[in-house]
Amino acid sequence: KQKTEKKKVLLMGRSGAGKSSMRSIIFSNYVAKDVRRLPTTIGVESSTFKFLGNLMLNIWDCGGQGAYVESYLHDSAERTKVFSGVGVLIYVFDVESREFDTEDRNARDLVTYSAIVKALAENSPQARVFALVHKMDLVQTDFREQVLKDKSSAIRQRSGTFQRTIRTYGTSIWDQTLYKAWGMIVHSLIPNLDVIEGILSDLVGITEAEEIILFERTTFLTVTSVKSEIGERNPYEDRFERLSNIIKTFKSSISTFTGSSTSSHQFGELYIKTTRFNLIVAMLTTNTYALIVLPPGEVELQCTRLNLFIARDQFV
Ligand code: GTP
Repeated sequence: KQKTEKKKVLLMGRSGAGKSSMRSIIFSNYVAKDVRRLPTTIGVESSTFKFLGNLMLNIWDCGGQGAYVESYLHDSAERTKVFSGVGVLIYVFDVESREFDTEDRNARDLVTYSAIVKALAENSPQARVFALVHKMDLVQTDFREQVLKDKSSAIRQRSGTFQRTIRTYGTSIWDQTLYKAWGMIVHSLIPNLDVIEGILSDLVGITEAEEIILFERTTFLTVTSVKSEIGERNPYEDRFERLSNIIKTFKSSISTFTGSSTSSHQFGELYIKTTRFNLIVAMLTTNTYALIVLPPGEVELQCTRLNLFIARDQFV
């Protein structure tokens, strides 16, 4: 049994950087086109999400309005409240911001960021920091790699004690980069991942599965995956993010169709049979879904469904 572990995740960045849109996409069944309707966040909104049973992710969406940033950085009680007990800080930079000049040490975005990581280092030195250079879709494709490299290196230099451990990602709500970055974040938060992976490897061994991908139930972020030798040959490296996105949209569309509440709507099992493959998406634990890719054939499909059913018992 996993022990109850409460972790706080801070989601920060200046106003308009894209935090609310991001959070809505990752933590509810919003699709990208619905996001513009969200109102501006004033102050701190704290919401708690349950992940994988015992893991609590507490998301603080800090408005980023100048005055508020001042108060949570300079008022010592506020500062302690916001920055203590933090497992992860996710800091969102708007790639288009005029106040993020990589050559200028006084650029406001970087000054605020370094004040924030300093407060974090004092109150939660063990925290992990992820910086997202967001809205990458606004940068021309040819320049994206270089822009990300320059911004990442400027961010790293201003990361204080987190300089060596910080991870940076380029993201956009319009493609799977957002899922990839958040998938890495979630991955870093999950305890007992090796135990889960062991059970999935056994499942790959006893079934004909080419690959099993484990998704978190609410967000459909990829938690982990195991592959057979055949699965290793799959050349599509972004398939997890694509699948995650497709299933999430599917989930959202069935809930629109049935009229149920979007975030709570769940399905038990889904399978697709084609002449080239079988695909099963089924609940594995109360908090995860397994997606299994199999060779074609009715027997393979039914055997794997049975084995999946048996595997479920090991998780409870
Ligand atoms: P506050 O609530 O004021 O703190 O801002 P925020 O950081 O939460 O930003 P919000 O999510 O409200 O997004 C601001 C604007 O950026 C909205 O118009 C979004 O549609 C847009 N936006 C968010 N993410 C992206 C992205 O990846 N690409 C593009 N092009 N626009 C984005």
